[in-house]
Amino acid sequence: MAWSDPNSIPERLLMGPGPSPVSSAVRLAMARPVLGHLDPLFLAIMDEVAEQLRWVFGTKNRLALPLSGTGSAGMEAAVANWVEPGHRILVVVAGLFGQRLADAAARQGGLVDVLEVPWGSALDPGQLETRLREAAAPYAVVALVMAETSTGVLQPLDGLSDLVHRHGALFLVDAVTAIGGMPVDVDRRGLDVVYAGTQKCLAVPPGLAPFTAGEAALDILRRRATPVPSWYLDLSMLERYWGGERFYHHTAPVSMIYALAEGLRRIRAEGLDARFARHRRASAALWAGLQAMGLSLVVDAAVRLFSLTTVHIPEGVDDTVVRGRLLNEFGIEIGGGLGPFKGRVWRIGTMGEGAQLEPVTRVLSALEAILHRTGGVEAAVLAWQTTSGV
Ligand SMILES: Cc1ncc(COP(=O)(O)O)c(C=O)c1O
Repeated sequence: MAWSDPNSIPERLLMGPGPSPVSSAVRLAMARPVLGHLDPLFLAIMDEVAEQLRWVFGTKNRLALPLSGTGSAGMEAAVANWVEPGHRILVVVAGLFGQRLADAAARQGGLVDVLEVPWGSALDPGQLETRLREAAAPYAVVALVMAETSTGVLQPLDGLSDLVHRHGALFLVDAVTAIGGMPVDVDRRGLDVVYAGTQKCLAVPPGLAPFTAGEAALDILRRRATPVPSWYLDLSMLERYWGGERFYHHTAPVSMIYALAEGLRRIRAEGLDARFARHRRASAALWAGLQAMGLSLVVDAAVRLFSLTTVHIPEGVDDTVVRGRLLNEFGIEIGGGLGPFKGRVWRIGTMGEGAQLEPVTRVLSALEAILHRTGGVEAAVLAWQTTSGV
């Protein structure tokens, strides 16, 4: 394959932890003429994107914008703006992305405490309450990952913000693997600072980090004792470009914003509830198929994430051989395990365009052939037909 020939890039079916499949409509949007980042036509697209992000986030927050950078830029922005040197921060670590969040907060000079949750489990709110009650001094921020892509756990959030606010902290949430596939409900759940990524359930290529913060968080930002150490991710400056002032900060990644605008238009056309239901149905189909093939799922059904499923690799099966065959013989990507799950678990995504029956059955039928097992496709079709998704 000649690297210089763009036509030689194969069409893979992306059913791993992201990026997820991107529609041709979104890909074509990136080929539109590049406008200047202060062109009135581009500013109108920015306004539309901000409005649609508010809708997908479930918020009326004034500050809602896509940061230039992947999901990790969202994480970095969240901690760079809201963690000051010497601040006490509590991070719930239930997987790799929680660990990364704790690391990022510590690099800002935060005094980070970790509330450890075993990989594959969700945080028990009682545990958080005890930690907050028994803390030697109040925390400025409590942070956690809503959809932990390394474990396949969906952290229930209801009630947590009351707890966090009662103890005087801001609630900072990673919604990278949730946004567009399940309700984030920023306002209803009282989330103060939330970041996400485009390459998962929004079905847009990697490159932007949708971000929102409420007024309480912005008040704290305005009263910071020290300037935000990151010039590029300083939200008080970015707000002036995305807000009415249109103050130049950096050249917006224009083509990526076209892609996000198109992705959000597609979500609008489908409807959020229908989209969430489709993600539920696709994961139900995948779970039924995997289980019918005799494979066992890592996470309890009650907290199982429906954009990313973790499944135990059967005894005697070589992780890399199977993933290599999926990729090279079937053109399908799934993810391997991270950290303690490395070599023991596969991660299969049902995100965005991948959250449909056809891609799910393609993965299952390839796994049936490679693992010499049967029944997966049939069970998936049945589950898809009988699951309403609501
Ligand atoms: C939960 C979570 N947070 C943060 C990130 C980092 O995002 P990115 O890889 O786009 O920088 C990821 C990426 O997979 C993720 O799954």
